[in-house]
Parts: sequence; structure tokens; C-alpha cells
Amino acid sequence: MQTPSGHPVESTPAKRLVVLVSGGGSNLAALLAAHDDGAYGARVVGVLTDNPAAGALELARDAGVASVVVSPKDFEDRAAWNDGVAEAVAVFRPDLVVLAGFMRILAPSFVRRYEGRLINTHPALLPSFPGAHGVRDALAHGVKVTGCTVHLVDDGVDTGPIIAQVAVPVLDGDDEHALHERIKVAERALLVETVGRVAREGLYVVGRKVTIG
Ligand code: GRF
Repeated sequence: MQTPSGHPVESTPAKRLVVLVSGGGSNLAALLAAHDDGAYGARVVGVLTDNPAAGALELARDAGVASVVVSPKDFEDRAAWNDGVAEAVAVFRPDLVVLAGFMRILAPSFVRRYEGRLINTHPALLPSFPGAHGVRDALAHGVKVTGCTVHLVDDGVDTGPIIAQVAVPVLDGDDEHALHERIKVAERALLVETVGRVAREGLYVVGRKVTIG
């Protein structure tokens, strides 16, 4: 970086993001689309998946980002898999770890290690409709407004302090797929914006209340 008069100035290095994904990876794709901009403040340095067939692997390859598969099938038990995930993530020396459609529960030791730096995105307005079927459960409940939540991860399932949320209306005739696709449009934008702000400005957490900056 240079000043207008050509003098070099020190720029803050981009925060190192590791993204954990289980599926198609449209949220990962959105982060990869943002991270080349030097002003974004964060860069995806590694992708980890539990699923050898995850579309995320191709996205990472195309972006020139290192990726690793840590499949439970390759481990004796859950504890060994958890250790495998922890070791693989640590290799990337992350500043922030982002769970972007990662459909497994991480061990409390992992959560503690990255406390305050472990971020999840969820396709519902938490604390309503946590768990793997947030979109289906909101629809079944008959809510008129749902949305998405970016939050810090704690030991529970989708229970950590909320960083940011966006509402998405439920439309007459929505099925789970249509509603989820609409939520995902909002979710990608929210995740990219929130992760960038956290990387650039930092987080301040008091109890359950999170402030960026
Ligand atoms: C997202 O809605 C995420 O919140 C949920 O699964 C979806 C993953 O989408 N858990 P993608 O793999 O990023 O396209």
C-alpha cells in the first residue's frame, strides 16, 4: 500500500479465516468472492470439510485455497475425529474460524480453543428454530417472518451470543427449498458483511451482548 505521494504505509494484515463446510458451499463462495479485496480485512486461508463429496472442495481448488477432508469415516470414534479436526484447523493458524453450513457438532475443547473467534451462520432467527432443520421447523410453525443469524459458537447447538441477524418474510406457497434459497441470499450477504467487520474492527462481548468494534 502507498500514500498518494508514493510513500509506503503499513497496512494491517488480513485476518486468516478457516471455513468449515459440509455441503455445496455457497456461503464459502461468497467469502471467496469478497476476500481478494484488500480492504475486506480477511482472507480464506483454508477450507475443511467432513464430506469428501462437498462442492466446497471444488470452490476452494478454483480459488487456490488449501482444503482438507476430515471425514468421521476415517476415524475410530468421535473423539479421534474431533482431534483430527482440531489438528487440521490449527495447521492454518486461523484468526477466525467460520462454520458455513458445517453440519456437525464440534467438541467443547475446540469451542474453548477458538472462543470468541468461532462464528456460525444459521438459517433462522435464533433463538427460534435451532438445529439442523431451522428452515423446515420455522415453516411448520407457521411463522410469517424468519431469517438468518450469525453468532458466536458456544457449547450448545446454535445457542451462542448473536452477532447479527436479518429478517426474511415467509411467502404464501413457500416450501422448504424456496424459503431456504431466499434465506441463503440474505445469509450470504450477512455473513460476508459480518465476518469482514469482525475481522477489521474486532468484537466486544459482555454476557450475551455482542458489539462489533
Ligand atoms: C446454510 O443455510 C447454512 O446456514 C445451513 O446450511 C446452508 C449451507 O449452505 N446450515 P451452503 O453450503 O453455504 O450453500
